Amino acid sequence: MEINFLTIPSCRYAYIDQGEGTAWLFIHGFPLDHRMWLPVIHRMSKHVRTIAPDLRGFGQSESPVAPVVTMAEFADDLAHLLDALGVRQRAVICGLSMGGYIAFEFWRRHKERVAGLVLCDTRAASDTPEAARVREATAQRILKEGTNFLADSMLPRLLASQTFQQQPDLAEELRQQICRANPQGAAAATLGMAQRRDMQPVLPEITCPTLVLVGAEDVISPPAEMRSIAEAIPNAQFVEIAEAGHLAPLEKPGIVADAFLDFLRRAAIRTKSD
Ligand code: MLT
Repeated sequence: MEINFLTIPSCRYAYIDQGEGTAWLFIHGFPLDHRMWLPVIHRMSKHVRTIAPDLRGFGQSESPVAPVVTMAEFADDLAHLLDALGVRQRAVICGLSMGGYIAFEFWRRHKERVAGLVLCDTRAASDTPEAARVREATAQRILKEGTNFLADSMLPRLLASQTFQQQPDLAEELRQQICRANPQGAAAATLGMAQRRDMQPVLPEITCPTLVLVGAEDVISPPAEMRSIAEAIPNAQFVEIAEAGHLAPLEKPGIVADAFLDFLRRAAIRTKSD
């Protein structure tokens, strides 16, 4: 799939833009890039306009100048990206994990642009003070050593045991993606995540169509926690993906794309064939 570039106020941004119809914005998790969405995009781009950026400091987008990039700043980058791409109609905002934190901020800051919210393997709570301290130490270590140590600590927690057995190449690709992540970008996002706001109090105010999706084996944002997010959002749909972990859309792209298309139909959001 062709990667495109454009300049928004904060930096030069890399993104995929494929298909026609309602725009569906895919926001990747940490410390990955747009490639985690490609298998889902392959299926979805027949039905909607799929847009998947590399966030500031990740993949092929420029790295940040500031030492911290907040979830709100990432969300504003994405609003600028949609402007630059001429997306004037409401879009579906879909984020995984850190991408979910950014999707929440996008909804909070740019509600009028949101046709639907898709929250995958993410959390609504902010970091505890202890978790924030661990992130600060992690950011320091990333700047000193690079991201190789993150692959060792994160990888075992990203995928379901079945995925490690059945798709060993996927685990290896992820290891490489994490090891090649830009240290400056990864450190800035780590500090940004430590500062993120608690979204739990505003969940009842989310009235747009919402899908909450989680891998049944996710140990980072477990199904019970995600189910409680869905229960706090009026009329949210909750889907659990069997034999998938924290990266459910990458581990089970066919099943997840079917769940996304079913969400579009239920929410009466237009697709290309309507
Ligand atoms: C992610 O997958 O984006 C991270 O696990 C999010 C986090 O560290 O909170």
